[in-house]
Amino acid sequence: MKISVIGLGYLGAVHAASMAQLGHSVVGVDIDPRKVAALAAGRSPFYEPGLDELLAEVGATGRLTVSTDPAAVAGAQVHFVCVGTPQADDSNAADLTYVDAAVRGLLPRLAPGDLVVGKSTVPVGTAERLAGMVAAAQPEAALAWNPEFLREGFAVKDTLHPDRIVYGVPDGAAGERAVAQLDEVYAAPLAEHTPRIVADYPTAELVKVAANSFLATKISFINAMAELCEVAGADVTLLADAIGYDARIGRRFLNAGLGFGGGCLPKDIRAFMARAGELGADPAVAFLAEVDDINNRRRARMVELATEVLGGSVAGKRIAVLGASFKPDSDDVRDSPALEVAARLGAAGATVTVTDPRAIENARARHPELHYEPDLDVTVTCADAVLVLTEWREFRELDPERVGRLVAGRVVLDGRNALDRTAWQAAGWTYRALGRR
Ligand code: UDX
Repeated sequence: MKISVIGLGYLGAVHAASMAQLGHSVVGVDIDPRKVAALAAGRSPFYEPGLDELLAEVGATGRLTVSTDPAAVAGAQVHFVCVGTPQADDSNAADLTYVDAAVRGLLPRLAPGDLVVGKSTVPVGTAERLAGMVAAAQPEAALAWNPEFLREGFAVKDTLHPDRIVYGVPDGAAGERAVAQLDEVYAAPLAEHTPRIVADYPTAELVKVAANSFLATKISFINAMAELCEVAGADVTLLADAIGYDARIGRRFLNAGLGFGGGCLPKDIRAFMARAGELGADPAVAFLAEVDDINNRRRARMVELATEVLGGSVAGKRIAVLGASFKPDSDDVRDSPALEVAARLGAAGATVTVTDPRAIENARARHPELHYEPDLDVTVTCADAVLVLTEWREFRELDPERVGRLVAGRVVLDGRNALDRTAWQAAGWTYRALGRR
């Protein structure tokens, strides 16, 4: 099939390359010439494990082309909208500027039989509105909503081997045709053995925000338990292991620590609350405000803990921060708990040096006031405290004895409960973590 993908960010670039890998002829369009130039040269515009390899594979086939020209979509039968829906500047609501612009850009180029497929995370009701725009421009074209559940760091795997596929389609013949077209796009091997749910627009839109709200709630639940563990002298990691053995609960997404960040969970739960408010259903998701608060309290607690172990003030202290990205295996620093903690410590007068395997450039753009150091040994040299705030493998596997010889004080704060506490303590470190004695 001939497919277009509008928006070549974390979602669109991976989707475009994956669709080409499935055998489709794909044109990717983005207004950002930097992204387009990188992809045209066969390189990923951001760090995502496996994407460079995938781009090399599909590059050799010639099935993926990219452009900054919106007219490049002409001739494609299925158009995926993969642009961002960030939090609005002045409220918790989602900013739909990019989605609207992407669809408006498609309208004059739609041919009879074309299908516009939304993948972006949007407030419920958006698909219906966009479907109206499509119908007005080309009555024989249709719109479907096909939410994406990929995780950064696992984006290629999640796209090519999804847990489930969800289609939101209109009623009647148009809906049936949309389902057939999407089935053709997601032909085997992708869709083989993958559960597929066909629903109406609002259900498909809600699936995405409901899933992210549940995940955020699960993380905040365990972090709320961490708060209790701290005052009761208990250990949240053992608690998570123990409740996680109950198959109804499950151990995944029960890692207590600095909490969730990134470009999805925080803004999605806020946009969900804003949309529920518009629909007069605020009480239904009022608990998400608490989920958000618990999450933010963890960042404050980390700063408090650092202040405490450094004798009541961080002013003038040298702090080594390990991790800037919002999670390992990503260069994304959007709403990164690690970077926020580093910035708060810097604002409180500490000399903060941040290291990260991939995210230094993005972090520097957001917080130019902090020091950045690509070399881990240099980062920790003469530090009064080492804070591990993103659990990259290279940090988890640090040798406490070796690092101990470089620092000024053997004080480590494990913001992700990711270190081997026994080994660090055996090497003479003062070890502190969130939710543990
Ligand atoms: C999330 C959803 O998982 C994905 O399905 C959706 O499509 C987009 O949003 P992502 O933001 O890439 O994906 O990362 P995810 O792995 O969900 O982690 C989100 C945040 O939660 C990270 O900051 C991570 O460190 C934190 N987290 C995760 C925890 O604090 N504890 C956990 O147990 C799991």
